[in-house]
Amino acid sequence: MFEIACAASDLQDGQARWCSVRGEEVAVYRVDGEYFASEDRCSHGSTSLSDGELDGHEIECPLHHGSFDIRTGVPVALPCIKAIRVFPIRIENGNVLVSLDS
Ligand code: FES
Repeated sequence: MFEIACAASDLQDGQARWCSVRGEEVAVYRVDGEYFASEDRCSHGSTSLSDGELDGHEIECPLHHGSFDIRTGVPVALPCIKAIRVFPIRIENGNVLVSLDS
């Protein structure tokens, strides 16, 4: 089931944003007009990834500077070694919709 995370216009290219979907903290990203979503918690600690720096398709955690590929959730820089969840996304009626179920 897809649920509204935020308005598509809430994000500019190269930005990350925190959203709450069904009580779960989700990070939504926009890169070159395309949207992506992941869980907002770094797998190395409990830091909010949406507070990190987005560089292309990589989000850098603000605490210890590990990073993840936002398309797959795979860690791409230490100290992160455990993947984060990524979520399917749709844009409908100007909103970013995320599915937490898959
Ligand atoms: S909490 Fe994210 S890299 Fe350590």
